[in-house]
Parts: sequence; C-alpha cells; structure tokens
Amino acid sequence: MNFHVLTLFPDMIRDGFETSITGKAVEKGLLTLETVNIRDFSVNKHNRVDDYPYGGGAGMVMQAEPVCLAYESVASRLPKKPKVLYMSPQGRRFDQAMAQELAEEEELVLLCGHYEGIDERVLEEIVDEEVSIGDYVLTGGELAALVIMDAVSRMVGGVLHNEESAQFDSFHDNLLEYPQYSRPEVWRGKAVPPILLSGHHANVEKWRREQSLLRTRMRRPDLLEGAALTKQDRRFLRELDQSLSGKDEET
Ligand code: ADE
Repeated sequence: MNFHVLTLFPDMIRDGFETSITGKAVEKGLLTLETVNIRDFSVNKHNRVDDYPYGGGAGMVMQAEPVCLAYESVASRLPKKPKVLYMSPQGRRFDQAMAQELAEEEELVLLCGHYEGIDERVLEEIVDEEVSIGDYVLTGGELAALVIMDAVSRMVGGVLHNEESAQFDSFHDNLLEYPQYSRPEVWRGKAVPPILLSGHHANVEKWRREQSLLRTRMRRPDLLEGAALTKQDRRFLRELDQSLSGKDEET
C-alpha cells in the first residue's frame, strides 16, 4: 500500500505515521508514505495557497491550482488514476468496513484541507470520495488522514505481527472484543476470572464469546443487527435480555 498525502503540514503526517507499528511497516517496505506539501505548488509570489471566498464571508479558501498541481505531481508518476480521498466532515463516515475496502487499493491519495475549505472546482476534478472520521469539526484534515491510514494499514497483510489479531479484534463480525487479562493473577485485590486459569480451552472460548455478546449488547446494541450470530448466541442474548428485564421489574 502506497499512501500519498497532500497537505500543508507534512511533518505532522510523517511524525504521526512513522511511529510505532505503521513506522515499522514502512521500514519493512510493506507500506510507503509520500507527503506532498501543497505550499510548494503555490502560484503566488508570497507562497500563499489561500484567498478570500467569492461572495464574501468569514475565513479563507484554499485555491484550486496549488491543490491540483500537488495532485498532478503524484498522479503523473502512477500508471493509473489513484483513488483520491478528501478529508471532510461532510463525507461518508469512516468505519471498519471502509478500512477493509480501502486496504485493497494499491495507491491512496489523501487530500487534507485547512481554512474554510478548498475551492469546489478542484474537488470536482480530482476527488473520488469525501471521508469523515466523525461528526465533529477538526482544524484540518491531517488528523483524519492519520486515523484513516492507521486503520487501513493494519488491514494490509504482514503489518500486524499476528495475522489473527486483525481478524479477531473489535468490530470484526460486528461484535466488540472480550476483556483481556495478564499477570499477576490478583492485582490490587482483583482476581482474573477463574475460567481463564482453568486450562479448559472450549470453556474459555465459550466464555469469551459470551463476553463479546454481553459487551456488544450493553455498549453497542446497534452492531448486533449486522453480526453473524449462531443459534447459541441468540439463545444467550435472549436469556440475557430476560434477566435484564427481570431486574427492571424488581426495581
Ligand atoms: N476535517 C475537519 N473535520 C473533519 C472530520 N470530522 N473528518 C474528516 N476530515 C475533517
């Protein structure tokens, strides 16, 4: 996977991405990161890349030409048109399914805006999809790009040490992850659930599945609709709901 980020803050992207697991994956050659500073393509003698909005209003708008030239500096070196994502709170909401989908691409271009936005005409020309990381407004697209690149990277083969961990983590199968424990067996008076020390593999697996179902039911019931549930899972959830409604009646 080759990431190309068009940004006014390339250091922010490099510092964020070249740390920890994604940084190791870059060293191993599994991922590459190219940052393109949009300011290098300024068409203004003061190196500006923004201007006042036509029609008036607060703030400044990033101009079309520097953004387009930054994009063309990347696209002209690639054999086919890369997928271009524009980081924007108006975009499609990013989620795990989209991370998986994007991990199939060879090349991804992420465009980060600042100020009050980017001239619409260049967005119409080069952007395939606008992507939002949530319903809040950031000062710029860089943090959103880092979030997306991180989530996509861990779906790329070989990036995680243990191939299993991407498969079984939160949101796989639309279920939240079961709780984890490590040494010591008793920490500040709190013991590890005894079943995990039993050595009985099948019972441990059953307990973990039930914990996943319980957590999802309590924290994110909306996810259960899209989950692949077995008959046994459904029975467990039915019994859970019955015991919860029983508790309601008692109070
Ligand atoms: N730029 C500003 N806010 C954003 C958001 N929530 N998601 C993606 N890009 C953004």
